[in-house]
Amino acid sequence: MKMEDNTILITGGATGIGFALAESFVKLGNTVVVCGRRADKLDAAKKRLPALTVKQCDVSDEADRKALYAWVGENFKDLNVLVNNAGIQRRVDLTKGGEDLARKEDEIDINFKAQVHLAAMFVPMLSKQKQAAIVNVSSGLGFVPLTMFPIYSATKAAIHSFTKSLRHQLRGTSIKVFEVIPPTVHDTELKGKPIEKADWSVSSSEVAESVVKGMEADEYEIAIGASKRWVSSSKLELDQAFSNINQRD
Ligand SMILES: NC(=O)c1ccc[n+]([C@@H]2O[C@H](COP(=O)([O-])OP(=O)(O)OC[C@H]3O[C@@H](n4cnc5c(N)ncnc54)[C@H](OP(=O)(O)O)[C@@H]3O)[C@@H](O)[C@H]2O)c1
Repeated sequence: MKMEDNTILITGGATGIGFALAESFVKLGNTVVVCGRRADKLDAAKKRLPALTVKQCDVSDEADRKALYAWVGENFKDLNVLVNNAGIQRRVDLTKGGEDLARKEDEIDINFKAQVHLAAMFVPMLSKQKQAAIVNVSSGLGFVPLTMFPIYSATKAAIHSFTKSLRHQLRGTSIKVFEVIPPTVHDTELKGKPIEKADWSVSSSEVAESVVKGMEADEYEIAIGASKRWVSSSKLELDQAFSNINQRD
């Protein structure tokens, strides 16, 4: 699809991968709106990239999602791309029973339910546009779970499955459905702060570069770096990868 003159909403776009995408999209001549919960992060993003429109929103809250949809409808009628990027990652130790699950932030609500509801809600708006897209950010861990993040990995597997069905259902519309499958990204806030660069990690700007190239080429599953091998691995190779990445846990 053409990557200029689009109007793009990125959830969780004030930091990390979402912000790197916002930077790339603005550079290419697109109008970009980002949303997130923390006002200070949204303000900082706006300072770094004045062309951005920022909007406070908690995508895990149904009323907030509906309010976001109404606000976009009023202010950005030409919206033609939704990037479902907001996500969190939590360590969950299931040997403690439900203790870790009882924490306030729910990965299923943020990483899965919100993406599904936002995608469904925006379909009527997007399908009015000649060219449109829904971009769902999953993860390599949706293909090979990292057991210390059991719910996170499961939500990403669910996003992969959901995205395939969505793409198939929307095949007769103007909406193209992309899945972005990053490997470990070292310079984001997903783990609270940036982590050390590793052989298997990439930067958020490398993710953004691959996303732009992938969308331009209508490559619907945009697997990046180490995730590339996993999306086309056999069951045996996936089992081997599972043993390798979880051997210390
Ligand atoms: N980093 C990696 O290694 C990696 C690998 C594969 C996939 N991914 C995926 O990439 C996406 C972006 O993550 P990232 O690595 O860039 O981490 P990040 O810097 O922490 O970005 C996540 C963003 O989502 C926002 N967010 C979280 N919960 C939200 C909510 N309920 N409502 C609205 N916004 C919310 C956060 O802002 P607020 O907290 O202010 O709301 C934050 O700006 C996630 O879906 C993640 O799973 C990351």
